Amino acid sequence: MSRILITSALPGVNGVKHLGNLVGSMLPADVYARFQRARGHEVLAICGTDEHGTPTELAAAAEGIDPAAYSAKYYEIQKRLGEGFGLSWDHWGRTSSKYAEELTHHFAAKLEEAGLIEERVDRMIYSIDDKRFLPDRYVEGTCPHCNYRPARGDQCDNCSRLLDPVDLIDPYSTVSGSKNLEMRDTRHLYLLQTKVAGDIRAWVDTQTDWPPLARSIAYKHLDEGLIDRGITRDLVWGFPVLKDGKTRPGFEGKVYYVWFDAPIGYLGITREWAASNNQDWQRWWRTDKGADDVRYVEFMGKDNVAFHTVSFPATIIGSGEPWKRVDVLKAFNWLNWYGGKFSTSNKRGVFMDTALELLPADYWRWYLIANAPEGSDTAFTWEQFQSAVNRDLADVLGNFVNRILKFNEAKFGARVPAGGEPGPIEEKLFADISAGLADLTALMDGIELRKSAAALRALWVLGNEYLQEAAPWTAFKTDEARAAVIVRTALNLVALYGRLASPFIPEAAAKIVGAVGETATAWPTADASAELSRLEPGRALTTPDVLFRKIEDDQIAEWTERFGGAEG
Ligand code: 2FM
Ligand code: ZN
Repeated sequence: MSRILITSALPGVNGVKHLGNLVGSMLPADVYARFQRARGHEVLAICGTDEHGTPTELAAAAEGIDPAAYSAKYYEIQKRLGEGFGLSWDHWGRTSSKYAEELTHHFAAKLEEAGLIEERVDRMIYSIDDKRFLPDRYVEGTCPHCNYRPARGDQCDNCSRLLDPVDLIDPYSTVSGSKNLEMRDTRHLYLLQTKVAGDIRAWVDTQTDWPPLARSIAYKHLDEGLIDRGITRDLVWGFPVLKDGKTRPGFEGKVYYVWFDAPIGYLGITREWAASNNQDWQRWWRTDKGADDVRYVEFMGKDNVAFHTVSFPATIIGSGEPWKRVDVLKAFNWLNWYGGKFSTSNKRGVFMDTALELLPADYWRWYLIANAPEGSDTAFTWEQFQSAVNRDLADVLGNFVNRILKFNEAKFGARVPAGGEPGPIEEKLFADISAGLADLTALMDGIELRKSAAALRALWVLGNEYLQEAAPWTAFKTDEARAAVIVRTALNLVALYGRLASPFIPEAAAKIVGAVGETATAWPTADASAELSRLEPGRALTTPDVLFRKIEDDQIAEWTERFGGAEG
């Protein structure tokens, strides 16, 4: 057994997240966490809200409440929605906690001691009409690299480059739309990333376990050359900038930049979890305190990769302390909504709250993982969604489970039938299932989620083909013992499918294993003949209601109309 630390991108508190956000980090992290727990590993899966910064200030202002109240509200909303999707975190925390605050000050002090912090006076964009500086997303304009408009002041959504607001062409204030802007002096702290660039590259060079998307983004940023980055902002919502425990002179009304404290939030969240569970948080994060045997796996959308391969490493490497660094960084491309992007403001696409009002979480989980944007961007379409639910879940898995349980109940009573011995058809099935299990386990271990979903589906198909070939309904007429073997084997397949499906569709999987009198969801070995002989004859069974309801064409028509679709 080993220890696995699993994190996903911490969702910002500016509103409810859409399905693209879900599949880009939190959901795959959960599937992987459930898989590794089922294999008996000690897993710590943490997530929580990323609360500071301009997006929160802007969204809070739009709702007419202060950023602290706004953050507390969305911390709860997102927790509830995540739980609704079956996200099985060990802890859901907040980047605004006292632990994260203390750690942020700790890192800032260590970096300063190491000579990696410098005060600089910058000329920054000031909005005369708004009477304030316009950091990050307070200003938008045209991207100087790809001409996309509107690019945000901190990053371009189109080409993913990190930006400085002053780089934008033809900028305007997102508070008022005003273009009445001028440059004014303001004092900020800079993290001298240029001094640690060599160390970061040397570390990235050794990270051969990172999937290609993460590696290529990391090298792109390193090759473009790191620049020293401002880590403070003219904002109110964030951690204050201190020196020797007091406001740092000249930094009144300024806070740390959200991307400085957000990744530190993972450590803070672990401390929150440890404090309420009587655990030692450093065992997960300090290599001098036991974390050297932790495997740290992070899940995130591609827009976050630069922060986790370059910016945050600059913080922890620069501190000179032995902090645990990421071992596997699993990055995702975008899930688009038809041809375009999900859009909160245009109500385009399905968001986590509405999704759960429409259908059970498992339907979304299955579709999203089976179509996860791993190799490239993918597009949500209602037709694909309908097909994934109706064909994979209802026709292939649900039908198999219901059909065999019903048949058994009718012919043998609701118990595992006794008698007979496996024959050549079963031997072939055992061999095929063994190979499929080995395949699926290797893919899950490698966090190849789309392929894992396909491998799981292929195992379900094998069961259907087996029933078709072995035809217990025909055998029953002439050879009851033979029919008993087939039915028993198929019931064991039901148990196996429940366990295998558990990381993907946990609610339905619990019903499936429950139907055959199991509760455990331990991941099976690749020895199919043993795995398919687990259920002892005589064990009581229950036939569940229909596991998955098919999505009707008129529902698709209604949702296409309601959420936008093909026209995009
Ligand atoms: O992109 C985002 O949604 C950020 N809130 C992710 C932060 S991840 C971590 F570093 F905190
Ligand atoms: Zn761009």
